[in-house]
Amino acid sequence: MLNFLIYQHRFQSIIVIRNYDPALPNVFANDGELRQVFLIMILNAIDAMEKMEREKRLEIRTYQNVNEVRIEFKDTGCGIPAEYINKIFDQFFTTKPSDKGTGLGLSIAYNIINRFRGGIDLESREGYGATFIISLPAA
Ligand SMILES: Nc1ncnc2c1ncn2[C@@H]1O[C@H](COP(=O)(O)OP(=O)(O)OP(=O)(O)O)[C@@H](O)[C@H]1O
Ligand SMILES: [Mg+2]
Repeated sequence: MLNFLIYQHRFQSIIVIRNYDPALPNVFANDGELRQVFLIMILNAIDAMEKMEREKRLEIRTYQNVNEVRIEFKDTGCGIPAEYINKIFDQFFTTKPSDKGTGLGLSIAYNIINRFRGGIDLESREGYGATFIISLPAA
């Protein structure tokens, strides 16, 4: 998905750090759907960083945690205010202007990951960035 986005103009100003564990176990999932989830995460990170004046850094990390595979997306964007944390996975919840966001991305991502018995966690401090952590059971 990164190779696919590299052609987008707004991707040019973003530093991407790839930190991939080369020895991950397999997961049971659909690869097209996983790509869709990764695209949702990356586009959200880009949107969140675009409005900030500091360094735009997206770190993507994969690692194993006991019997789970985790894929982490950490950005230096605007972060998520505490009062929104419980709402962002709702369908049609968006803080973006209506010509930019529909509020469907994270609800789609949640449904896909949930169907493969995984989960999405998140850590964020408003003004400092956000980290989304996707977990999937190792096959
Ligand atoms: N990485 C992030 N940093 C800060 N806020 C985020 C991030 N990811 C999601 N959000 C917040 O969660 C909201 C919902 O995200 P979601 O992807 O579901 O919809 P959206 O991006 O607004 O619209 P779209 O349907 O185009 O994806 C966003 O509007 C934004 O407020
Ligand atoms: Mg989105």
